[in-house]
Amino acid sequence: MGHPVGHSRSPLIHGYWLRALGLPGAYLREDVTPADFPAFVAALRERGYVGGNCTVPHKEAAFRLADVTTDRARAVGAVNTLWFEDGRLSGDNTDGIGFLAHLSASQPGWETVTGTVVILGAGGAARGIVAALLAAGVDRVVIANRTPGRAEDLAQLFGKRASACDWTALPTVLPAADLLINTTSLGMQGQPPLDLDIAPLGRDAIVADIVYVPLDTPLLAQARRRGHRTTDGLGMLLHQAVPGFERWFGRRPVVTQELRDIIVRDIERPKAP
Ligand SMILES: NC(=O)c1ccc[n+]([C@@H]2O[C@H](COP(=O)([O-])OP(=O)(O)OC[C@H]3O[C@@H](n4cnc5c(N)ncnc54)[C@H](OP(=O)(O)O)[C@@H]3O)[C@@H](O)[C@H]2O)c1
Repeated sequence: MGHPVGHSRSPLIHGYWLRALGLPGAYLREDVTPADFPAFVAALRERGYVGGNCTVPHKEAAFRLADVTTDRARAVGAVNTLWFEDGRLSGDNTDGIGFLAHLSASQPGWETVTGTVVILGAGGAARGIVAALLAAGVDRVVIANRTPGRAEDLAQLFGKRASACDWTALPTVLPAADLLINTTSLGMQGQPPLDLDIAPLGRDAIVADIVYVPLDTPLLAQARRRGHRTTDGLGMLLHQAVPGFERWFGRRPVVTQELRDIIVRDIERPKAP
């Protein structure tokens, strides 16, 4: 459920798992306007659904509409996964654990070398990622955002281990970062580039971008040229889908190279003008 939703690659992901596991079922796109969303969710079961995902602009509304929410969803104030449990509509937010699952898969042992994380952006995705990183035990998260007040508000939600810094102060903050994450939409196809010189980063810092169109963002390319280990945004998209599938269909799916290749081909496929 989204508005618009035509760009969503989730049907490809869940369709792949349904086929791979030989399960009967379907995962469909539903374009639902914000005005229609509460009624749509109220009738979800009558429509034959066992649950679903919600994306922009419905994540906060889904949080309010769910009867039960997970700690993770409450930490973020937004829900991307809905399912029915004991007859009640339940909501979770899997963006943060999706990011962490991919980080662990692509940078094994990252948690043993990560004390300080610098996050660019303070939107919905940043919220989930900050919550997940702090729950995973990192010492300190520093948030920089175009609108400084949003970074401060986000940092305040998480207490002493989170703080905000001015975007202009990044050159002085980056040397302490063990992990740098872009959660802004900068660098995404159709958006302005992310104009950040990462030269002050320490040699061993890991650089992650959650933008996945294009797959190889200018930030990741710059980081690779400088010899950093990098983590792209596509893995987060694939891993955040795992808990939902397991709840709806009762089987835990696996993020495979074959699935990744399918989505990469779709991202790189020339689009009709
Ligand atoms: N890989 C994945 O699975 C995954 C999951 C979720 C999101 N994403 C991607 O992550 C990005 C953010 O998503 P979101 O849901 O967090 O969006 P959001 O809530 O709208 O937040 C957008 C963030 O980008 C910043 N931003 C936007 N335009 C900017 C500009 N021109 N200059 C500087 N900063 C700018 C915003 O700063 P202000 O606060 O100043 O507006 C805010 O921090 C999107 O590209 C989305 O596709 C990827």
